[in-house]
Amino acid sequence: MKNDVNIQRRKLLKFAAVSAAALATFPSLINAKTMRVSNQASLDFNPDIEISLTGEVRDVSVLKGPKTRVWKIIGKVLKGNKSAITNEESYLAPTIRLHKGQKVRIYLKNELPSATILHWHGLHVPSKMDGNPMYAIDNGETFVYEFEILNRAGTYWYHAHTHGLTAKHVYSGLAGFFIVSDNEEQALNLPNEEFDVPLVIQDRSFTQQNQLKYGGGMMMRMHGFQGEEIMVNGTPDFQLPVATRAYRLRLLNGSNSRIYKLAWDDGTPFKIIATDGGLLEHPETLPYITLAPAERREIWVDFSDKKVGTEMTLRSLEFSSGGMGMMGGGMRGRGMMGGMGRRGMMGGMGKEQSQLGENFTVLKVRVSKKVSSHDVLPKRLSKITALRLADAENPQSPRRITLSMRHMSALLNGRSYKMNDIRKDEIIPLNSLQVIEFDNGFHGMGGGMMGMGMPHPMHLHGEQFQVIKREVKNKSGKEYTSVSKGFLDKGWKDTVLVMPGEKVTILKPFNDFTGLFMYHCHNLEHEDMGMMRDLLVK
Ligand code: C2O
Ligand code: CU
Ligand code: CU
Repeated sequence: MKNDVNIQRRKLLKFAAVSAAALATFPSLINAKTMRVSNQASLDFNPDIEISLTGEVRDVSVLKGPKTRVWKIIGKVLKGNKSAITNEESYLAPTIRLHKGQKVRIYLKNELPSATILHWHGLHVPSKMDGNPMYAIDNGETFVYEFEILNRAGTYWYHAHTHGLTAKHVYSGLAGFFIVSDNEEQALNLPNEEFDVPLVIQDRSFTQQNQLKYGGGMMMRMHGFQGEEIMVNGTPDFQLPVATRAYRLRLLNGSNSRIYKLAWDDGTPFKIIATDGGLLEHPETLPYITLAPAERREIWVDFSDKKVGTEMTLRSLEFSSGGMGMMGGGMRGRGMMGGMGRRGMMGGMGKEQSQLGENFTVLKVRVSKKVSSHDVLPKRLSKITALRLADAENPQSPRRITLSMRHMSALLNGRSYKMNDIRKDEIIPLNSLQVIEFDNGFHGMGGGMMGMGMPHPMHLHGEQFQVIKREVKNKSGKEYTSVSKGFLDKGWKDTVLVMPGEKVTILKPFNDFTGLFMYHCHNLEHEDMGMMRDLLVK
């Protein structure tokens, strides 16, 4: 589990730490030598709630038969409302539930056989609390996070963010929900308690002995890992029993790299009420949902007109995943369908979803109880102030980030991830609004090399952003049209899927906090292959 990078980093740690003041003035000093910053509780921070999260190796029941060895986070509330933490079955990390304005202190204790660090995906927290890989702690060490919940209500999540090992750590179990509520949301009286259901969709492969299988060759890394089994909340063949009333389902794509095209098998359209950064202004109706890694959508589903016994299936529909995607996927797919997987021989789900873009079952809903209720989906959900291009620092000259893949690396503006490697174009003035464009082969050749065009779910740390424009070279190309009706660019976002040949323009605020904030592809294999960089806000 130890890799060279971490051993290197360990050695560097032995050297002197640099004070926070010096860091602020000399950002170039922010490097691997300053790792110890802020892993102690501070006296002038008064938390409303204190939580401990301990990462440890555990054997848990995931499938029938032998237990599965996973990296499990165990949560505990040390001070404050106990309902802030729900420990989950299976490999999932505990669900954290907090309210806007609450101050939280989190002790991350690492009892795992590798250095690691957690990042609060979608939350607007100070740089030191953001889980930058340079803050990774070793086995036996504790990192103390302290921050206030500044975000509006929404479905956020958290996961490991270890240098070069994010994919492996998340795959092993280091990821969970982080749900934020606020007063505006509560006034809407949306379905709550057991009628508010977080659902994380992931894919995993298992050995015959029920152990997690991860890895593969160059092809696997170029595409990202595609597991043979679809897991929902850490469970295969997931079934959700429901009553005849309305539900709020919070969908998170927690997969390393798989993109889903979600649809109900009976053709019922989705009523979408929220996206990455919380509620939309009003519900949006879509025929299907294109959900890229790290993205969230919340849907309102009303089962009140269904008969008890009715079953509905949420499927991922077929789509065209791009030139190389199809070639690579096909080759790997044949290998997997050869019956090597745990269920390959049984003709179960294992067969279906080995390729990106195939049609397979994600979960089943079973109407199992009659109740009477009169749930009305509010016409208006929230107020979202549209960011204005005119308010940006660079309305005429977007910061362009080109996405490309070359040989064994995935690059941003031709660069690979490196700690302490801030370039001029990666420095952002504090309290500014920036126009940023992600160019996935829109200008020049697709993805940097012929036939290497690949979808990239691009994520920025820090504040949520707004998508203002999508431009695509081949608007009517099958690759694009097979997923584009499932995009939802309204509201606040922290991750946006950029298709091959596409350019996506966003407006992103950089308020409140100076320091390093990462931007990267959330295909975790791509991220680990270098498709990540830091922005320095100062
Ligand atoms: Cu969800 Cu930097 O990641
Ligand atoms: Cu993030
Ligand atoms: Cu990518």
